[in-house]
Amino acid sequence: MESFQLRKQVVNLILVGVVFFAAIFYYERPENVNTVKQKFLKEGLERCDSNQRKYVPETENRNNPRHNLFGSEPVLIVNASIIDGDGVVADFKQDILLKDGLVSKIVVSLSPESQILASKYEIIDANNHYVSPGLVEMHSHVGICTQPELKGVNDMFELMYPVTPFTRVIDAFNVGDPAIEMSLSGGITSALILPSANLISGEGFVFKMVVPESLSAEQMLVQYSGEAFEDTTRQRWIKMACGENPKKRYTDRKDAPKSRMGLGHLFRKTMQEAQKLKDEQDLWCELIYNRELPLNRYPENDDLDLLVELLRGKVLSNAHCYETFDMETLLRHAREFGIEINTLHHALDAYRIPEIIKKQPYNISIATFATLWGHKKEAFQGSLFGPKILEENNMTVVLTTDHPAQAGHTLINEAQIAHHYGFSAEKAFASVTGEPAKELNLGNRIGFLREGYDADVIIWSDHPLNMNAKPLKIFVDGMKVIDQPLNQNEMVTASGSIPEVSDTQLGMRKFEGSRSYLITGITQSFIPVINGSELLIVDGKFVCSSDDCSSSFKDIELPRIDLENAYISPMLTTLTPSHGMAELALEPMTGDGSLVQALKLNELLSFKDPSNVPKAKDGLQLGSIHLSKAFNLGTGVVITPPFRGEGQLFVSGVSVAFWSDSETLDNVKDEVALHITMGDQGKQKEVATISLQVSALKEMLLSNKGTKNIYGRVLSKELPLAIHTNNKDVMLHIIELKKTLDLNVIIVGGIESHLIASELASNDIAVVVTPWRCQRRFWDERRCLSGVNGQSTVLKVLYGAGVKVALAPDDDIKVRVHLQEAGLAAALSDIPIDDMIHMITGSMNDIFQLPSSNGSFIITEGNPLQYGSRISVIIRDGVISTIYPDIEPKNNPFI
Ligand SMILES: *[C@@H]1O[C@H](CO)[C@@H](O)[C@H](O)[C@H]1NC(C)=O
Ligand SMILES: *[C@@H]1O[C@H](CO)[C@@H](O)[C@H](O)[C@H]1NC(C)=O
Ligand SMILES: *[C@@H]1O[C@H](CO)[C@@H](O)[C@H](O)[C@H]1NC(C)=O
Ligand SMILES: *[C@@H]1O[C@H](CO)[C@@H](O)[C@H](O)[C@H]1NC(C)=O
Ligand SMILES: *[C@@H]1O[C@H](CO)[C@@H](O)[C@H](O)[C@H]1NC(C)=O
Repeated sequence: MESFQLRKQVVNLILVGVVFFAAIFYYERPENVNTVKQKFLKEGLERCDSNQRKYVPETENRNNPRHNLFGSEPVLIVNASIIDGDGVVADFKQDILLKDGLVSKIVVSLSPESQILASKYEIIDANNHYVSPGLVEMHSHVGICTQPELKGVNDMFELMYPVTPFTRVIDAFNVGDPAIEMSLSGGITSALILPSANLISGEGFVFKMVVPESLSAEQMLVQYSGEAFEDTTRQRWIKMACGENPKKRYTDRKDAPKSRMGLGHLFRKTMQEAQKLKDEQDLWCELIYNRELPLNRYPENDDLDLLVELLRGKVLSNAHCYETFDMETLLRHAREFGIEINTLHHALDAYRIPEIIKKQPYNISIATFATLWGHKKEAFQGSLFGPKILEENNMTVVLTTDHPAQAGHTLINEAQIAHHYGFSAEKAFASVTGEPAKELNLGNRIGFLREGYDADVIIWSDHPLNMNAKPLKIFVDGMKVIDQPLNQNEMVTASGSIPEVSDTQLGMRKFEGSRSYLITGITQSFIPVINGSELLIVDGKFVCSSDDCSSSFKDIELPRIDLENAYISPMLTTLTPSHGMAELALEPMTGDGSLVQALKLNELLSFKDPSNVPKAKDGLQLGSIHLSKAFNLGTGVVITPPFRGEGQLFVSGVSVAFWSDSETLDNVKDEVALHITMGDQGKQKEVATISLQVSALKEMLLSNKGTKNIYGRVLSKELPLAIHTNNKDVMLHIIELKKTLDLNVIIVGGIESHLIASELASNDIAVVVTPWRCQRRFWDERRCLSGVNGQSTVLKVLYGAGVKVALAPDDDIKVRVHLQEAGLAAALSDIPIDDMIHMITGSMNDIFQLPSSNGSFIITEGNPLQYGSRISVIIRDGVISTIYPDIEPKNNPFI
């Protein structure tokens, strides 16, 4: 007992001693403030000081700290045709020195300076190719929804609550996302990565699309400074969202808003809290600057930090909004709190309200899409002419992919299609380079090919606004990251926009409905019986096709349609997910309904009973806006299975084929094919594994052998079996099944089919490729081919292997730009134009056993598979249906 007491005293003594000496040591260090309070004061003062500092882009003598990560050697690109970030093409050749991660010099080719540089540095001869700055993507989710989107690495949505200003993309950014490299292959060198969906979603960051060997995400930041990431003077970006996304996402949560009114309240309430905190901070700083001592520490709240910084004008705001009234509401709230909305994203309705947007006391840019529209109400008013109209209103337009909504590497296609629909070439190219760079407040270092900028440079195969354009060489921070051989290159210009329709041309509309007429100016025909520059049709029948039909109608007065450089093609036959089944895929009220939903409501609706298999013909909804837009842009026959809806489903049912302009049920074919989805997307109740799907399919066919029901007819080859799958191994199982049961099988999807092209060919299995673009969103499509960076495309491989192949649009959104999509697919796949036309017309008819629609065709002025061509005449069963059809028919009740 005693000795214990003694020991305790000794211990205490030692402890006191240690504390004493430690205290002396601490007090003697001059840099240490000596009280907790002093420490708080010092930290607070630093915060007060930093509140006043804004990120100012450096322009003079800047260096690029990221260069040290790669340490690439200098290189001189000679004979470049520079197309800069303002879209302007230089009309003389230039040489570009990339050194220390910067564009260090640009000189005129063959000038004396050029010769001096040439003697010193390694040379790459651009051989007159277009050379541009790297593309800048202003709305992407690359890195936070790693592909394929396994649950383990999908971090795009923070669904704790609709207001999450404290979430930061940098905390989730996965350098292992293969979409980073895919985006780069498409020419994107920098991208703003935004968190998704919430009313106040969080903080975005701008990354370069090159993963360093260190695998450090911080080192990928454009603003990587070589120092700690916490640097407070960097530019910051916030993401917000209006409308359907935040409104619909929290339906299960009692305390989350369900209406725009609730969203408005929550937004304002949150901003008031941030405003209150900012006031407290300002008061605190005022005290300390007046040499009065505040009582408490500097007021801070991590939850609100980004919003306070926004109120201080230090954060650029990016707001996802579609509807006119959503944008107006957001701008009203912004004014209330004295904040600026830097960029309205998606903003498909912006073209309708330039005055509202321009009325604000600051400039707002519109970061939008060229083609996306129509799947949900807020996207229903979008126009292909949106970018053009915004440009006419002198507004800044940025184009984005919203990867993975659209594949990141297809950003340049957005600019191309917008240009096709009238957005000027300069602004279209600027909308994916200089404009986003400026809107990000990084216009001092990316988005332009100028001295002192980051050495992010692309050498293109063609003018970047042409279908053939591919990045062949890409440099990022001076390091060569994509290196394909240069092609032979003739100086070409952008193929241009569709011409405006003149009054004379519009005057020809009086011939609509004519059954007898003469068409002149034909230069190419994809219809075998038509060969000649004139086409005479009398009473709906072909009478003459030659270079001079005048002798065939000497005495008759005929309507005469004079065209220039006209191409005649069959109307397109298109397989769609919901045309004719639903107007708005996400609004069940607008159509037949969703089968996935039906299955949830009625658990007993087993596909095993053939009488449960739905037929699309029984739910057809004609005369929709989707259909009229499709018709006016060239789609004749539409094949649609019953609408699946969102979710996994095995048996969709029997498709119908009908004319897109049809008003009655005079279908081309009532029952076209039985559609079944296999692979992950087919995993539903009863068949939740692929193995169960295969055995279920076999069983339901065999057990109906000899019957006249759907399954029996599939087994007797009366009905083709359309298997929707992208997974190569599922296709192998289907090949086995075909071998034993002798079925007429069509693969729909087929992204991985290139891996077994010869097996498909030898087993006579046709493939309807959709989507033809490569994403790796799902496991079942992870082995897709992108067509860039030296890769082939699935179409090219199937075509080369002699597989019977057709091309369908990626989804309903792409139906009205199917001709341009086919043009792009042909260009990336080296498929001749007539074979590609066949893939979207006759081949579709053959595969689905539809009669050829040979009296109906479209006449375009210009090559239909090139940008700049326009549909001039649509002929239906020999009769003139439409002349210069409206690309945006005015039948949308919401406009
Ligand atoms: C490229 O530049 C070199 C000199 O720098 C010149 O000799 C050559 O003719 C140029 N090539 C073309 C295609 O202009
Ligand atoms: C807004 O844009 C116009 C036209 O581009 C420009 O003249 C003006 O300076 C801009 N205003 C601000 C505040 O940036
Ligand atoms: C756009 O700017 C041009 C040139 O400044 C001007 O002439 C034109 O009126 C403007 N258009 C609109 C719609 O503001
Ligand atoms: C007619 O056929 C010839 C020879 O095949 C071809 O060169 C020409 O382009 C064709 N004309 C039209 C209008 O298709
Ligand atoms: C259309 O098809 C019918 C029958 O298949 C054929 O008789 C006719 O010649 C064809 N017309 C054209 C223009 O190909």
